[in-house]
This record gives sequence, C-alpha cells and structure tokens, in this order.
Amino acid sequence: HSDKQKRQIDLLVAAPRGFCAGVDRAIKIVELAIKKYGAPVYVRHEIVHNRYVVDELKKMGAIFVEELDEVPDGVPVVFSAHGVPKAVPHKAEERGLEYLDATCPLVSKVHRQAERQTEAGRHIIFVGHAYHPEVIGTFGQVEEGQMTLVETLEDVAALDPADPDALAFLTQTTLSVDDTHAIVAALQARFPSIVGPKGEDICYATSNRQDAVKKIAETCELVFVIGAPNSSNSLRLVEVAERCGARAKLIQRASEIDLAWLDGVNSLGLTAGASAPEILVNEVRLLLEGHFDIREEKVTTADENMVFKLPRGLEAA
Ligand code: F3S
Repeated sequence: HSDKQKRQIDLLVAAPRGFCAGVDRAIKIVELAIKKYGAPVYVRHEIVHNRYVVDELKKMGAIFVEELDEVPDGVPVVFSAHGVPKAVPHKAEERGLEYLDATCPLVSKVHRQAERQTEAGRHIIFVGHAYHPEVIGTFGQVEEGQMTLVETLEDVAALDPADPDALAFLTQTTLSVDDTHAIVAALQARFPSIVGPKGEDICYATSNRQDAVKKIAETCELVFVIGAPNSSNSLRLVEVAERCGARAKLIQRASEIDLAWLDGVNSLGLTAGASAPEILVNEVRLLLEGHFDIREEKVTTADENMVFKLPRGLEAA
C-alpha cells in the first residue's frame, strides 16, 4: 500500500565512526602503488579488514595473498595496516622484492617499544587477541620466548615470569578500553615494577569510536555496527553497545539487515568500525529510509583530524 504511513524511527548516528587515519593511509598506499607501478600490485593479507574495500582494490588491479611465498618475483608487494613480523620484510629483501609497508604508524610505534623493552632486558606481557594479524606482527618483532600473550584476567593470574621485576607490558591497538584498563590494573597489582606506556597502546580511533557508541547505545534499543567479523575494533563496538544495555548487530552490508530486527524498535543507533567506508553507512541509511520514516540525529563525542604521512616516494604520485 503506497499510502501506508511509514513508521517513525529515530536514527542516532555516532561520530566519530568509520575510517581512521591508519586505514585511510593504507588504502591510499595500495591505490598509489597501482598508479606508480601499474597493475598488478600484490597485497599481503587484506589491506584492512573490509570486504568492500578489498573488492574495490581488486577491481583496480590489486591481488591479495596471505603469504609472501605467493607473490611472484619482480612485482611490488604492500604489507597490510595490521603490521607484519620482521621476518616478512627480511624475506622480501632477500628476494629483491619491492615492498611498501602500510603498517599503521601507531602499530609501528608499539613494534619499536617491543624492541626497546627487550633490549632493556625486560620480558613483555602483551595484552591482545590470539591469532589477530596485529598480534602476530608484534610478536614477530622480538625473538621467540621474549613475549607472553594475555587475553583475560585469568591469564594475568596464571602468569609465572622468570623475573617478575623485569617486565614490561604493551597492548594491541584495537582492544576494549574498559577491559584493557582492568587487565593492566591487574598486571600492575601483581607486578608493581612492570613498565608500560602511559595508559595503553589503544589508538585514538578505537577509543573515540567506543566513546561514541556508548553515547548512542545509552538511548538506543538496537545498534547496527558496520564492520567485518574479523575486524577487532568492530567486534569491540558491538560488545560496548551491548554492555550499555542495547541489542547490537554486526553487519557487513545493508543487505544483511533483517527488517524483523526492527520490530518494536523506536530508537536505532548506527556506527561503523575503523575499516568500514562511509559508503556502507549511506547504503544502510538508504535501506532504512525505504521502509521507515527516519529521523536522523548525529551524536558527536569527539572531533578527529588525524592524518598520517605516506611513505617516501609515494606522496608525490
Ligand atoms: Fe591505526 Fe588505530 Fe586505525 S592503530 S589503523 S589508527 S584503528
């Protein structure tokens, strides 16, 4: 019935949301590399954890592989924003491959800290999620056995370091701010001499997006988080929203939305993880507007103007 009145839904859109400076830079590096060298340009691992971004870059001539062995000789290769173990650039150099490192500068900073702490004779306790590529990359900055992963408070309680007075901690950049505070506090309580960064290594984009989703989740019944199931920071946004008492759904595209989810929902929240492009937010907005009378309000908790420099040799391209 075309004359049927659409039901009104208040849509609270979080800001900041979506692309961070590290993701923006990583995507630009692939685009500029294709311009400079011509297609194909190989990329080791998804440049950022987003299918849409990866598919768009594929159309431009990027080829995504998981390991360096899959990159043929004589073509340039880009390392993803999550960072890589030291062995990867070493291997590329051995093979004479031209490589571009799209590791986020805020991840590289943690890599340098890892080196520094082990040089100072400290064992590193790393707070992060097992198997995430950033964690694999950071572990690969030091020798085996120099870093121990903790994911939970139970892991902290179970630690049995050889020298409890020679410890440092570092963290993944995309963790839950609240969980990480608790884990770091537990580390400091058990090992009073442990050294670490001021606060944690959680990046500005991660904490800003968590603050913003908290704000909307306080008043929304349901929150959509646009992001990939392997995107750490997006998964944290879902958890944070749920802890504020909202229902939360991680969606990759508007097409995944089941309209039945919106039954009885008067107030809906919307945000996007750091690797999700704004075009996907617009897609969701359009879908919603097709079915409901959407009253949109932007909820801003911080202004971001971070920009990271491109690697030398690409900025002029
Ligand atoms: Fe970097 Fe944080 Fe984005 S570590 S890639 S700015 S989510």
